[in-house]
Amino acid sequence: MRVDTPVQDVEMDGPIDLRDPYPMFARHRAEGGVFRGSVMDWSKTPESLMPEKLYAAVSFDAVNRVFRDGKVFNSKIYDATIGLFIGPTILAMEGKPHWEHRNLVSAAFKTRSLARWEPEIVRPVVNGLIDEFIDKGSADLVRDFTFEFPTRVISRLLGLPEDDLPWFRKRAVELISYTINHKRAFEASAALKDYFLAQIEKRRCAPTDDIIGDLVSAEIDGEHLTDEAIFSFLRLLLPAGLETTYRSSGNLLYLLLTHRDQFDAVDADHELIGQAIEEGLRYETPLTTVQRFTTEDTELEGVPIPAGAVIDVCIGSANRDEKRWERSEEFDIFRKRVPHLSFAAGEHTCMGLHLARMETRVAVETLLTRLSDIRFVTDDDPHIHGQPFRSPTALPVTFSPAAAK
Ligand code: HEM
Repeated sequence: MRVDTPVQDVEMDGPIDLRDPYPMFARHRAEGGVFRGSVMDWSKTPESLMPEKLYAAVSFDAVNRVFRDGKVFNSKIYDATIGLFIGPTILAMEGKPHWEHRNLVSAAFKTRSLARWEPEIVRPVVNGLIDEFIDKGSADLVRDFTFEFPTRVISRLLGLPEDDLPWFRKRAVELISYTINHKRAFEASAALKDYFLAQIEKRRCAPTDDIIGDLVSAEIDGEHLTDEAIFSFLRLLLPAGLETTYRSSGNLLYLLLTHRDQFDAVDADHELIGQAIEEGLRYETPLTTVQRFTTEDTELEGVPIPAGAVIDVCIGSANRDEKRWERSEEFDIFRKRVPHLSFAAGEHTCMGLHLARMETRVAVETLLTRLSDIRFVTDDDPHIHGQPFRSPTALPVTFSPAAAK
């Protein structure tokens, strides 16, 4: 790897333990909040594409500071990564343009909508999926449930025709798998653009009460969103809203199933689901690491960082910082609640956090209400896997349909 200023030794871990990258994060935290190097696997990146200056923020304070200083730690880096597949969106904007654009699109995510979406969309979707497997007495809750429900929810929130769901699901999965197959993701991106343009056009002729309708009519000071801004934002919702939610709900179910006492406590008292969701997000965030680049020479936790450096912003490590949480490496839904960073912080704080929490609450609550005696089948060693995206390989369970609870 090329290095210009020898600030401190560059640390590139060998092959990353995809089953458990947390000991690596802890080792780096023990050496300081920031280091020169990366928590990502760059082994398949050609030398010519390697960033010259790589740093990683791993403590809670360092990650929090990076998120809250978009002027120095800039999101434009996404233009060269996911932006190639989804187009220009708020994810890669900073300052005034970000603020203005975010205001326009957030009109479609008003809290008022959540109260309606829960009974009208989320509950029917979740119940419909459970109907499909409840009589079998067994299921893989990843394949049959967590992987599917956020896609169905989003397609209904957008107001897409029911018959389009299989096509939409296929294209959405191809787009979010952009790191695995670039060509297929580009094709999916182009197909989704044409599809969304047709949906936008329909709503221009006849307004609808759904997210695409809201985006078409959103207006601030006479400003409307362009078609490109709308279809790019809709494509952003796939990695931002589908992938994160299916992975985080799977992580929570895995953690509960492998901590039986906590599972039983939540099963007996559904009021505990909210705190279980937060602890699940802290302990096993679905997205451990995002990136920023520095616009000027700066310093983070005493480490000088030059302009033009790529920074790994390691949410997964920040969420286990022992300076912020006692027994930080333990999953404990009863711990004192201290905010985590899984939804980021500052100007790019997740726009879908209330929706994600609501979807997960309804999913867990409905599963626990409709299934009883849920048992985890561990023969094939199901486990949480991946870096930077993490979720269970599978969640095989057996159960009985619950008598009306
Ligand atoms: C548990 C589920 C979720 C997690 C953990 C999560 C996490 C995040 C994180 C970490 C960011 C900041 C990324 C960065 O700045 O580099 C983000 C941004 C965003 N998220 Fe989420 N997200 C979740 C669910 C959702 C849902 C359900 C939606 C909408 C359907 C959504 C929409 C967005 C959008 C639009 C942004 C961009 C905000 C901006 O740049 O101003 N997210 N999310």
